[in-house]
Amino acid sequence: MQHELDTVINRYDTDCLKWDYMEKWLGVPKGEALPSWVSDWDFKAPDFITAPLKERIEHGVFGYSERSDEYFSSVIDWWSENHQVNLKKEWFHTTPGSLPAIAMLIERWSNPGDQVLIFSPVYHAFYRTIENTNRTLAISSLENNDGYYTINFDDLENQLKGGVKILMFCNPHNPGGRVWTEEEVTKVCALCHQYDTYIISDEIWADVVFSKHKFFSCLRVSPDYLNKMAVCIAGTKSFGLPSMRLTNTMIPNEHEAETLKSKLLAYGIDVYSSFSLLANQAAYRHGKEWLDETLRYLENNNQVLADFVNAELTKVTYRQQESTYLAWLDCRKLELSDEELEKRLHQAGVIPTMGYSFGEQGKGFIRLNLGCPTSILKEKIVRLRSVLE
Ligand SMILES: Cc1ncc(COP(=O)(O)O)c(C=O)c1O
Repeated sequence: MQHELDTVINRYDTDCLKWDYMEKWLGVPKGEALPSWVSDWDFKAPDFITAPLKERIEHGVFGYSERSDEYFSSVIDWWSENHQVNLKKEWFHTTPGSLPAIAMLIERWSNPGDQVLIFSPVYHAFYRTIENTNRTLAISSLENNDGYYTINFDDLENQLKGGVKILMFCNPHNPGGRVWTEEEVTKVCALCHQYDTYIISDEIWADVVFSKHKFFSCLRVSPDYLNKMAVCIAGTKSFGLPSMRLTNTMIPNEHEAETLKSKLLAYGIDVYSSFSLLANQAAYRHGKEWLDETLRYLENNNQVLADFVNAELTKVTYRQQESTYLAWLDCRKLELSDEELEKRLHQAGVIPTMGYSFGEQGKGFIRLNLGCPTSILKEKIVRLRSVLE
């Protein structure tokens, strides 16, 4: 297993966004550069995922597919065993990815011009979704305490009072790497309930949580708080399945669930890719041991990076992530403009996502993908040294 994660796999010429499209999207010529931007990892899928896919290909007929009872049970059992949440089949809305569901919910639960709140810095596509649905972006800045992000609850309450329609919550948080505690999650949900605000909790990273931390889903709060809530869950990040992305959005309130169901019907999202269904089902059914080992591997990568930053960089700080395989490095003391920092990193051949894409509060930071063989991470570190020391 360790050996498989250590294996360096050439991803070029696979229509791969992260490797093949660096040049098109970032202007970085292919070749020597090591991409660390897009949040997918460079590991090969395990046999328990590829075997049912191969069998399906051998069968050779690729018609429309529907979710089987076993598909639902695999997700329900996983969440019950790993997150102490009893999902109900009626709550499921299955879409090719989280963002389509999030956009449809925004369209259902608010009108053009209404405010949708995010905690910044946050996953950049949230901005894109809010802007492209013609809603007004409302921002509550997270507080950065030496790299440990917390929510400013006074600010949150003021903004909810001011008429925010929807809070888009990222739990665990990308890029801050926090696994919000039970207390924090409960407080966020209680405030949304108090001010009658919808909450969309994106829990796509729920299964990528490191050993000392415990994920707490919004679905575990008091049933009173669930009435205006949607929670996106997926195996996309934890099992490396973005090419077969499938998100299940849970909506506990029956009336609110109907609103998304009608939207899915309108858009014809009521049949599915059998590859996505099979891959996700296999992951949830057989993936526990494999995931635990992969998390240990990622945690070690996290440690390798932290050791390097602590020992060798005086102007960069890094607090190890509680979740995600995306390190968030604070480079503000280098006193370089983002453009200059980006230019130097690209010249050195290491390609992170620049922090500014996660909002104003991300300026001066970089997000580095640690989902790669440790040998590649070490090579990234060699290259980072020349720019960041
Ligand atoms: C917090 C978060 N939500 C959603 C996504 C994208 O999800 P999907 O590909 O399922 O739309 C990502 C991808 O990095 C993410 O980090």
